[in-house]
Amino acid sequence: MTLTVNALTPNFVAEIYDVDLSKPVSAEDMSAIKQVFWKYGVLVFPEQKLSPQNHVDFAQQFGPIEMDRVLAAENTDPRLGHAFADISNLNREGKIWDKASRQRLYKEGNKLWHTDSSFKYKPGVCSLLYSTKVVPIGGHTEFADQRAAYDALPPGMKQKLDGLIAMHAIEYSRKRTGFATFEESEAQRLPPVPQLLVRTIPESGRKSLYIASHIGAIKGMEAAEAEALFQHLLAHVTQRQFVHTHRWRVNDLVMWDNRCTLHRGTDFDDMRFVRDMRRATVGDVANTCEQAGVAVPA
Ligand code: OGA
Ligand code: MN
Repeated sequence: MTLTVNALTPNFVAEIYDVDLSKPVSAEDMSAIKQVFWKYGVLVFPEQKLSPQNHVDFAQQFGPIEMDRVLAAENTDPRLGHAFADISNLNREGKIWDKASRQRLYKEGNKLWHTDSSFKYKPGVCSLLYSTKVVPIGGHTEFADQRAAYDALPPGMKQKLDGLIAMHAIEYSRKRTGFATFEESEAQRLPPVPQLLVRTIPESGRKSLYIASHIGAIKGMEAAEAEALFQHLLAHVTQRQFVHTHRWRVNDLVMWDNRCTLHRGTDFDDMRFVRDMRRATVGDVANTCEQAGVAVPA
């Protein structure tokens, strides 16, 4: 094994050095990366020179890549293939987007604490985000550890959450930002889906909260009660001791476990500076209820 692991926190974030992801990774290194990933949840690979194909090849080691994009226009985006979410502030011509563009208003949602693709029936397992242009001020990505946050809940709250099922939709998180203009085809593709509020991560056996700003309802709860519980849990998970800030450098590849972390982008002057990143997301094999053997609500 050639790679080096540099833990940034005891159990949440680690940097990986001495591996070149633009070349095939040996089985031994791949297995080491996976072990470290399941333990920590967020990995940073600095100084990687990755073509889109290199990026996809590495991501695929973790499962099937999601190929459907939320916005209808991005399903025909000429800048990147369908394997990538465009995490930039550039339009299709490669220029800084317009202040009122749909793309920009939609991406405001990335500033809310969320986890990728919890609004899909089969949610996201992990995301791999690669930076080609970074900004001098702001534009960080913050991560929160939903496992450590679960562990720290009082026993009464753990009991209350046990078996609860939340409804997630992209429309719910976008409503929180005021973006309410989904096209008919987009809305039809993405109806609310059920997900367990507490899940067990198979590789580590650890229990984790599974909340996100995509939550809009909790089964068996009044709307006001559900929203108050969500806000209470979100405030808990995002306390400083559970949060790590990644300050981007060019050619960072950062990967996170969507099943047990939250993330959000921080503000930057997006009408002045270019920030260019692309993200591949690996989808899960089944809905969280199915994985836990819980009946999927209608
Ligand atoms: C993402 C995301 C936040 C950011 O790529 O999934 O939410 O900092 N990004 O751009
Ligand atoms: Mn995201």
